[in-house]
Amino acid sequence: MKRTHHCNELRAPHIVQTVSLAGWVHVRRDHGGIIFIDLRDREGLTQVVFDPEHNPKAAELSHGLRSEFVIAVEGTVRARPAGTENPKLPTGAIEVLAHNLTVLNPSETPPFQIEDSGGTLAGEDLRLQYRYLDLRRPSMAKNLILRHKVAKTTRDYFDQHGFLEVETPILFKSTPEGAREYLVPSRVNPGKFYALPQSPQQFKQMLMVAGVERYFQLAKCFRDEDLRADRQPEFTQIDVEMSFIDREDMYALIEGLLAQVWQVARGEKIPTPFPRMPYIEAMERFGSDKPDTRFGMELVDVSDDFKQSKFKVFRGAVDAGGVVKALNAKGLACVTQGQIDNLTETAKSFGAKGLAFIKVEGGQWKSPIVKFFNDAEKAAMTAKLKIEEGDLILFGADKREVVWEVLGRIRLIVAEMLNVKREGWNFLWVVDFPLMTFDHETNRYLSTHHPFTAAVAEDVPLLDTDPHKVRGQHYDIVLNGVELGGGSIRIHQPDVQKKVFEDVLKIPKEIAETRFGYMLTAFRYGAPPHGGIALGFDRLCAILCGSANIRDVIAFPKTAKAMDLMTNSPAEVEPKQLRDLHVKLDVET
Ligand code: AMO
Ligand code: AMP
Repeated sequence: MKRTHHCNELRAPHIVQTVSLAGWVHVRRDHGGIIFIDLRDREGLTQVVFDPEHNPKAAELSHGLRSEFVIAVEGTVRARPAGTENPKLPTGAIEVLAHNLTVLNPSETPPFQIEDSGGTLAGEDLRLQYRYLDLRRPSMAKNLILRHKVAKTTRDYFDQHGFLEVETPILFKSTPEGAREYLVPSRVNPGKFYALPQSPQQFKQMLMVAGVERYFQLAKCFRDEDLRADRQPEFTQIDVEMSFIDREDMYALIEGLLAQVWQVARGEKIPTPFPRMPYIEAMERFGSDKPDTRFGMELVDVSDDFKQSKFKVFRGAVDAGGVVKALNAKGLACVTQGQIDNLTETAKSFGAKGLAFIKVEGGQWKSPIVKFFNDAEKAAMTAKLKIEEGDLILFGADKREVVWEVLGRIRLIVAEMLNVKREGWNFLWVVDFPLMTFDHETNRYLSTHHPFTAAVAEDVPLLDTDPHKVRGQHYDIVLNGVELGGGSIRIHQPDVQKKVFEDVLKIPKEIAETRFGYMLTAFRYGAPPHGGIALGFDRLCAILCGSANIRDVIAFPKTAKAMDLMTNSPAEVEPKQLRDLHVKLDVET
């Protein structure tokens, strides 16, 4: 019984044909001796009928079928009786009347139902332990198919644009790029370690020096960071690097890719070019470098109005060189004190000292701080924040960066509370990031992204005097508040790169030499000007699937504790393996 069709293929024109299907028993129903099976394979479902009057032997055998048995069926396609069609199922107009049934493999009762809906979704730990069953769920199968399509579209797109896919090593070397790394001890070089790459950054730049000109890779990256819904310890990037380009070339290239991907994956046209927003504007208006611009509720600066304020908190912030900003949560005056307390706690967890508020109810401003405001201050706020009955105004008064962070977070939470409409695809390039950020803990500058990013040409002289004022030629691509990717035009002059390592970032000479010496050497042999970008492939697929968690688009993801529950990894190893690797453990067992 060779399979002739898959389970999402048969339609009315196939009626009277003899067909063979194979797959898993999705659901079995017994209607007074007539057995109905929803047969499932990767593509979908087909109803199969076992009727003792038609074929007693197959019908007899079908009584033993249970969920997830693997079977092959031969039968005739027929129209479903009038009134029993299922318009929700693509194959819902037909059914297959079985003549022949082979049980290819029985199945134990699965630990959870292989179902998408009905609120019966099992706990995620159980699903991850039996991931091969979880992946049988139609929505997961759909996600895997979509991921494949997006990968294929990406490869075709870059191929058409003259890019070579080049694989770069997984056994790499420790380099400080931001995240903590996974280390691999070397057996043949005692005491030495490889590190798994956080990204192929240095290799792709070396490929530019090698004259590859246009490189891309669906690259596996490894970062030992705290995991969240949009972060996995190993994940995939669409990694790109190009020679002889400027930022505009990169914007156009990626806009073309995403337009193509949206066309293929969702059948939707997205308008290009995407808007661009300088980093400072994103922070001032939205309190985030990855703003969700699908809704307003922007941060409004009211510092000027409170220079003379009687409210010490506001005046103090302005006097200390900080700011007072506010946002208007329209219609949220009905919040309870408990909700205000929660918001205040959240604000504090992001560095605020408090979260002043005003509720506008019954024609009155209600808040412990209203007594401090004079008429001019009230009038200024009313005009700037368009204050009306029913509004809740929330304030941040602190250093500029603290207010950005706090109100940026509060804005998103409040939007959630108000169930604000967030529709459409708001792509956005965020540009003109500061090249360096001052780290108060270590009292030195750190690269905002990585130390290979070139400065905006006109800002280069400031590198010596005011590094914090230098803008980097970095760009982030943001979609609906998610950072999809980022990249930059790189430094390609060895002296400039050396200066950034040693004079600006203050990386000691010997360390810069051991870590990046080969790059400086390479740049001395005719490095072309170049730039690149990396998009989070898992994040991209999750957004396309409408999934909130990237685990849904990764076949075998890890838990929040970076564990693979199916294979029980990480795991202990044999003492001999450790001895071979020259590793001694320092853990309590
Ligand atoms: P960056 O570190 O911004 O840039 O990473 C690029 C994109 O990769 C995705 N990403 C992740 N996805 C899932 N899990 C993670 N733990 C994770 N970390 C990052 C994000 C992010 O925007 N080499 C540079 C790029 C360049 O300059 O060309 C880099 O790796 O979507
Ligand atoms: P206090 O004068 O400390 O009792 O604060 C009065 C109100 O202002 C309370 O609602 C505090 O949450 C809020 N508040 C205090 N400090 C700040 C700040 N830095 N920014 C915004 N609101 C604050």
